[in-house]
Amino acid sequence: MLQQFGNGVSVTGSGSAKLTTQLDNEALSQVVDTSDEWIATRTGIRKRHIAEEGECLRTLAAEAAQGAIDLAGLEPGDIDLIILATSTPDDLFGSACQVQAELGASSAVAFDLTAACSGFVFAMVNAAQFIRTGVYRNVVVIGADLLSRWTDWTDRRTCVLFGDGAGAVVMQASDRDRLRGFELRSNGSMNSCLNLSYQSQPKKLVNDVAIQQGTFQPITMNGREIYKFAVKRVPEVIEKTLFRAELTTDDIDWLVLHQANQRILDAVAERLHIPADRVVSNMAQHGNTSAASIPIALDEVVRAGKVKGGDTIAVAGFGAGLTWGAAIFEWGK
Ligand code: UT7
Repeated sequence: MLQQFGNGVSVTGSGSAKLTTQLDNEALSQVVDTSDEWIATRTGIRKRHIAEEGECLRTLAAEAAQGAIDLAGLEPGDIDLIILATSTPDDLFGSACQVQAELGASSAVAFDLTAACSGFVFAMVNAAQFIRTGVYRNVVVIGADLLSRWTDWTDRRTCVLFGDGAGAVVMQASDRDRLRGFELRSNGSMNSCLNLSYQSQPKKLVNDVAIQQGTFQPITMNGREIYKFAVKRVPEVIEKTLFRAELTTDDIDWLVLHQANQRILDAVAERLHIPADRVVSNMAQHGNTSAASIPIALDEVVRAGKVKGGDTIAVAGFGAGLTWGAAIFEWGK
């Protein structure tokens, strides 16, 4: 039988991990043939953070989650569900249970969700379903990725873009539904534009049985195609979400997009006629941290005291799959 709480959804806390090791464009230009000028002009990125020895997806995800739990005024023991959006787990069987143990959230069920750079938005929407059906009351949604593990550090077209990070929010059951709308999309026919793919060799095991064993290969991306896809599909999906929410772009106080490229942020904001001071960007400091980028950016504006209770926030992710999606919610209890 379902337990009954308020069936509305609210987003009540945020957190992010503090990574100390930084790799700036100047240092990166000693690794590949690039320059601060090229990277900053084409992407807006000045530096990125890299997980150091002793840091792993579990520890960084747990740090971000603990920050969100604290801000929501909860204890780890209050958490019913942990969804970890990641494409770079410590363990291919999933890292969410390791995060659960690290937090001491012993009542929580925990699982991983993979939707690349859209993972955090997909995970928020997933969490909302459990809350709206009255099954769970307190949910932690984490976006965490250590793309440095899978970056080809000899490929200047991709290695300058990515960084490591983790961010999280707490979503809670509430009397009023503050998740105003969402829209999620996928297009697998463009899958080959962005991959971190498994490649294997057949190896004869016995008789006529061969196994396929290999490993994942570093990230490959058709940057131009992804760029075109993002500037077309992201405004569309936000407009659809606004329509569902019966809101207009004027109602958006904060636009928190996946931090892939400053030019994409600018193009999306321009298309939606959203002024730059309402568009959150931390690209210069973090680069593209995949599933972590939206919750890190959100946490930074929350902790800077800029986001007020009741502010309307639009989040939108896009990336490998291809996947893309948006959600619009009001901040706070
Ligand atoms: O999180 C998933 C979502 N990912 C994205 O949203 C990424 C979307 N794509 C992009 O952001 C852009 O396409 C990039 C930033 C990846 C590339 O920018 P671009 O303006 O599309 O550059 P390009 O790939 O067309 O390359 C232009 C030139 C090329 O030289 P030639 O062939 O014109 O002589 C590249 O070889 O820039 C060269 N180039 C570089 N030069 C210096 C490519 N990367 C670099 C580099 N440093 N790091």
